[in-house]
Amino acid sequence: MANEFDPKRFTVIDHPLVQHKLSFLRDKDTSTKQFRELVNELAILEGYEATRDLPLEDVEVETPLEKAVCRRLSGKKVAVIPILRAGMGMVDGILELVPSARVGHVGMYRDPVTHEPHQYYCKLPSDVESRTCLVVDPMLATGGSLTAAIQFLREAGVRDIRALTIVSSPEGVRAVLDFDPEVRLYTCALDRQLNERAYILPGLGDAGDRIYGTK
Ligand code: URA
Repeated sequence: MANEFDPKRFTVIDHPLVQHKLSFLRDKDTSTKQFRELVNELAILEGYEATRDLPLEDVEVETPLEKAVCRRLSGKKVAVIPILRAGMGMVDGILELVPSARVGHVGMYRDPVTHEPHQYYCKLPSDVESRTCLVVDPMLATGGSLTAAIQFLREAGVRDIRALTIVSSPEGVRAVLDFDPEVRLYTCALDRQLNERAYILPGLGDAGDRIYGTK
C-alpha cells in the first residue's frame, strides 16, 4: 500500500527476496519450522538494511600479496532488543550479522480486552546507552509494545534506536513515529489496517504462536 510516512524515518524493504519470503510467511499452511526459518532470514535481510550507515574506519591489512587499506566497523557497538516473545525469533538473524552485539530483553504482554501493553520483564546491557539498539518485534500492530520499549530505552539513555518489524499496520507506524521523533523504523510490509482485536490485516496471524507452534 502507498506509504504516507517520512522516508527518512520509515523504510519498507521492498527487495524481491524479502517480498518472496514474506509471501510464504503469510501463508496459513506454512509449517512452524518453515515459519521460524523465514523469520530468521527476514531478520538478516532487514538487519542488513538497518545497519547500512554504521560508521567505518580505515585499517591496514596484509593480504598474501601486499598491504591494503580496508574498512572496518569503527567500534560502534550494537544491542539487539527483542520484545518477548515473538521478537526472539529475529535475534539469531541479527546476531549472524553482528556477532558481537549484546542482547537485552523486554517482556510485554497485551491485555486481551484493552490491548494495552504491560511490561513484565526488562533486562538491558549495562552499557546500553552507548549502543545502537535494534529493537525487534515481527508485528507492529497498535504500537503499544514498541512505544513502551522505546520509552524504556530512552529512559536508560539510549540515543540511537532503530525498530525492525516484519509486518506493520498504518496505525502502529503512526503511533511509533509520533511517539518518538528520532526513532527509525524498518519493516517488510505496510499492511492495510487493524481488525477489532488489534490483529493486522491481511497480516499473518499471531507471530508468536506461529514461531513457537503454540495455539
Ligand atoms: N501480534 C501478532 O502476532 N499479530 C498481529 O496481527 C498483531 C499483533
